[in-house]
Amino acid sequence: MDLPIRHGSIGPSVLDVQQLYKNTGMFTYDPGFTSTASCESKITYIDGDEGVLLYRGYPIEQLAENGDFLETCYLLLFGDLPTAAQKADFDRQVTRHTMVHEQMSRFYSGFRRDAHPMAVMCGVVGALSAFYHDSTDINDPEQRLIASIRMVAKTPTIAAMAYKYSVGQPFIYPQNSLDFSANFLNMCFAVPCEEYKVNPVLARAMDRIFILHADHEQNASTSTVRLAGSSGANPFACIAAGIACLWGPAHGGANEAALKMLEEIGTPDQVDKYVAKAKDKNDPFRLMGFGHRVYKNYDPRAKIMQKTCHEVLGELGIKDDPLLDVAMELEKIALRDEYFIEKKLYPNIDFYSGITLKAMGIPVSMFTVLFAVARTVGWIAQWKEMFEDPSQKIGRPRQLYTGAPLREYVPIAQRR
Ligand code: CMC
Repeated sequence: MDLPIRHGSIGPSVLDVQQLYKNTGMFTYDPGFTSTASCESKITYIDGDEGVLLYRGYPIEQLAENGDFLETCYLLLFGDLPTAAQKADFDRQVTRHTMVHEQMSRFYSGFRRDAHPMAVMCGVVGALSAFYHDSTDINDPEQRLIASIRMVAKTPTIAAMAYKYSVGQPFIYPQNSLDFSANFLNMCFAVPCEEYKVNPVLARAMDRIFILHADHEQNASTSTVRLAGSSGANPFACIAAGIACLWGPAHGGANEAALKMLEEIGTPDQVDKYVAKAKDKNDPFRLMGFGHRVYKNYDPRAKIMQKTCHEVLGELGIKDDPLLDVAMELEKIALRDEYFIEKKLYPNIDFYSGITLKAMGIPVSMFTVLFAVARTVGWIAQWKEMFEDPSQKIGRPRQLYTGAPLREYVPIAQRR
């Protein structure tokens, strides 16, 4: 049968297979969705061969250089850059929602102190639907908007509380006089007994990290959010599902894994040994922070991250960071190595983000949590888009069944 072809505004066209099963009795087979577009979207565009990332058409480099995170949030959620008045109003709305229900602070004490903060995030973000019933009616556009703003505003507070709980310090309430990223650093690092002043260079770096992670089209966690949302689940539950998926080391957990790997390598003279391990087919070891399903070129976010990393180390007066030495040597060797060239394995965003966050005093276990804080807006924008798409249906993939064909039940006494 002839399959219709659909064209996007840029990027590859798609073969529309919606009528395939009806007309041929066959499904398509594509584990890992390497050739499958799961939806139509107007939010984020990636050209993996050229190393291009656009949010609503704007290059990530321009947004990271000139804008701030809340402007990016507005752009992702509403489709255009805000005017000054719209930006001021949006900032005010997000800022007003930064506190969490006081009862939520008691919820934390149910967790062990040594719980991984991503485990706490899955639980507490999921619990938001139990605290904010008045924004769980997904059919009401006003409630959808309030839920969206609440999640952008509250995930940094929830994340900082997870950190404070793990180190046994009191929770720090949000300070609405601070901007989004400075407020987050303040909630992480201030203590009630002394004054804490947020370093503006570090706040700016944090903001840039949030911008870089804000959305990345139909990645595993975003697809998880869309799939969960397609059943009509409430948005807080969907975002909790996204957080759970993000935690895996092949996805958001890679920044934590990349830093641990640099620590394990230890010194630049050990790099060759680890590169050889990564190339060995019989060794499961992979270079964390290298490779990407979509980018077959330098990840554009990694370049910005590398610059931010140097800015942060410069501001903190860290001249000789052993991890940075290992990272630079690893990058140099891998980019020259035939294996990595042939497979188009380049550094991804996680390669430099770990060093930057560690220098800022963020504990390694919090790295993926920061990714979740940033990605929340992307997940919500995608969830909203899916929900508002009239062609939206419950997501329900099919399979190629390779199990036993029909057979008769055998009573237990007769089984051998
Ligand atoms: N080190 C060594 N070899 C690698 C690596 C790596 N980091 N990544 C891929 N390869 C090899 C892989 O062994 C395979 O070789 P072959 O064709 O001989 O079997 C080939 O390259 C293709 O790999 P793949 O696993 O089929 O590719 P994928 O698109 O399924 O995987 C990936 C993408 C990101 C999961 C993978 O590159 C990886 O595991 N990287 C390390 C983890 C990481 O840094 N993840 C962060 C991604 S960026 C943040 C985010 O978006 O979440």
